[in-house]
Amino acid sequence: MSHFNRVVRVPGDPILGLMEAYRGDPNPAKLDLGVGVYKDAQGLTPIPRAVKLAEQRLVDGQTSKSYIGGHGDALFCARLAQLVLGADNPLLDARAAASQTPGGTGALRLAADFIGHCLPGRGIWLSDPTWPIHESIFAAAGLPVSHYPYVGADNRLDIEGMLAALAEIPRGDVVLLHACCHNPTGFDLGPRDWKRVLEVVKARELLPLIDFAYQGFGDGLEQDAWAVRLFAAELPELLITSSCSKNFGLYRERTGALLVCAATPEKLLDVRSQLAFLARNLWSTPPAHGAAVVASILDDAELKSLWSSELDGMRQRVASLRAGLVEALQPYGLAERFAHIGVQRGMFSYTGLSPQQVQRLRDEFSVYMVGSGRANVAGLDAERLDELAAAIAAVCR
Ligand SMILES: Cc1ncc(COP(=O)(O)O)c(C=O)c1O
Repeated sequence: MSHFNRVVRVPGDPILGLMEAYRGDPNPAKLDLGVGVYKDAQGLTPIPRAVKLAEQRLVDGQTSKSYIGGHGDALFCARLAQLVLGADNPLLDARAAASQTPGGTGALRLAADFIGHCLPGRGIWLSDPTWPIHESIFAAAGLPVSHYPYVGADNRLDIEGMLAALAEIPRGDVVLLHACCHNPTGFDLGPRDWKRVLEVVKARELLPLIDFAYQGFGDGLEQDAWAVRLFAAELPELLITSSCSKNFGLYRERTGALLVCAATPEKLLDVRSQLAFLARNLWSTPPAHGAAVVASILDDAELKSLWSSELDGMRQRVASLRAGLVEALQPYGLAERFAHIGVQRGMFSYTGLSPQQVQRLRDEFSVYMVGSGRANVAGLDAERLDELAAAIAAVCR
């Protein structure tokens, strides 16, 4: 008897497949706009200098590799909660706290298990489209997954469609919102949109789960946290998932947190006891290294200021690539058609290119992006924007 006879193969992650195809392409002029990591002008995903310095200190000072607790590194949790909610946020006294998780993905999975175990019967509502892993994480935790519209067929933010759909969501369900730098579209809600969403959330008594994976990549560390802090101030209860993968360049160190805001200090303790219990069954205790690095950066004024200026550099590079691409499309009469690339925020852009155009870019110009037309703007080369604009113009003809 074969135990594995009935095991069927599932298709691999399409983005990883795209990476493989890119690697196998012999064209020296190939361009990778697929995978979702930041790249610098040399095409590398750098380790920030602040991270290197903090790591050096850690290596020298570390005396034990014993487990860290169920909620992780206490200093990391305290400093990250301040970064997300604001250093002087009164909630941090007793009504809000962070639990360390393996990356933002771990935070999402912990949130999903918490909802499944402690709020039975609640469904989760995701934007259409959203980061594909959202779909599978919540389904894996057994939650009913539904969608609200986000981007229309005209490749524009569909705020009216979104609000109308949210107004119909069953009372008490969970709604996942992207704090900034929406993945995959790059279209973010403006302050007025956020306030309107908040009103519907209040009216329908929904529980927001805000995914904050790109703090500092949109408009700045503080600016990007505006909506999160608004929701935390206006609502008694809130879940926030935070990732240090992109803004600290710590991708493989799996560093993130699930933040909970509760109505009372007592309730916060109840919720956190459940999170520690659920995390025990998932990863027992979280990995230490990345969180220790983040803690030592955020706890040291000099390192923090170095890190924040390095993060400014990453954000500014992406912003100037966005503006540069729109400008390079000007001679082809396409600047207006692709003006949204300059308005979107974060690394990703829903370009509005069709799957056929994406395929032609790949076949004829060795430009690799996701079939949905999502491009990682950080993968662009400032010296080659004209070349890319010419390729886009060729497939748009
Ligand atoms: C929207 C969104 N949420 C969460 C994550 C999780 O990031 P990580 O688990 O690498 O910290 C990502 C990463 O790409 C993301 O795009």
